[in-house]
Amino acid sequence: MSLTLAAGAVSAQEVVVKVGVAGPLTGSGAAYGKDIENGVRMAIDEANAEHHTIGGKPVKFVMESQDDQGDPRVGVQAAQQLVDDNVSVVVGHFNSGTTLPASKIYAKAGIPMITPAATNPTITQSGLNTIYRVIATDSQNAGNAGQYAATVTKAKRIAIIDDRTAFGQGEADEFEKAVKSAGGSIVAREFTNDKAVDFSAQLTAIKSTNPDLVFFGGLDAQAAMLVKRMRQLGMKAQFLAGGGVMDANFIRLAGSAADGSSVWEYGQPLSTLAKGKTFESRFKQKFGTDMLSYAPFAYDATWVAIKAMEAANSVKPADFNAALKSTNYDGVTGKIAFTQTGDLKNPRSTMYQVKDVAWVPITTRSAD
Ligand code: ALA
Repeated sequence: MSLTLAAGAVSAQEVVVKVGVAGPLTGSGAAYGKDIENGVRMAIDEANAEHHTIGGKPVKFVMESQDDQGDPRVGVQAAQQLVDDNVSVVVGHFNSGTTLPASKIYAKAGIPMITPAATNPTITQSGLNTIYRVIATDSQNAGNAGQYAATVTKAKRIAIIDDRTAFGQGEADEFEKAVKSAGGSIVAREFTNDKAVDFSAQLTAIKSTNPDLVFFGGLDAQAAMLVKRMRQLGMKAQFLAGGGVMDANFIRLAGSAADGSSVWEYGQPLSTLAKGKTFESRFKQKFGTDMLSYAPFAYDATWVAIKAMEAANSVKPADFNAALKSTNYDGVTGKIAFTQTGDLKNPRSTMYQVKDVAWVPITTRSAD
């Protein structure tokens, strides 16, 4: 009897901290949303097993996940739901197109949002006080791609196609800027939409300009279809992307047409990071599935929030938001500290190339 009472007394004091997660759990980006959820889940389970005490009370972290369907309008509803449910922090969203409007809702409610995946540079440029990002931006990735295209590949005739989302168009813009400032020349700029499966019209227009390099701004499944179609049309131009393409889908869908393709991706290979080395195997053991690109960033984002709550000794957003600003965390993805606008102080970006139908890391650049 007394034991039962003691246990009851502890749980009565326990503070439940809701960690919001938002991303696509249905639709074409569903695997990414699930990957982010798993990253958050892993951090939360670890933290709960460690029995943290914050503000003198034992805390229990619980995940509250919303499906934004990768759609900006649904994203706004998902964000409002998380705010209404009193989450303390949000890890998300995945797509820049959903993150941009959702971030305004979180900021208005004073709730910190840490995106592990949305890379459009403008997300952190709206002067919002509670918005953070633990991944490099497209000005870095696609910027590196542009510089690489103009100076390393020495492509003379560069064509661009993007998916017209905040992400794809944003990276195409950054790429174009970087190509031009490195003295390169753009011979075609075409666009599609993020649901398209046929790129014949755009590729025919691009082919007529005789490019030696084609850059795509968009995600992996479409990138794969595009490169496959290029090869079917007899286009030999090099294929280059600026992020969001490296996951298994690209090679799975493009097959041998993927060979020779290059992409600048966010961060540095986990195998080169002290805490990164075991993450992949721990993840697979826990979830019985391979991680995609964003789980490690989601895992780090969650720990960054937990550490800020501990530093502030409070789970109230208004208190630990200040602590987030002085984050200094050694994560699975590398060191995490924020600039005044909430972006990484030391973002990294890595170029990978497909060789014999496998991704191979070529070079990593740091903004340090
Ligand atoms: N990096 C991708 C985006 O921003 C996922 O939409």
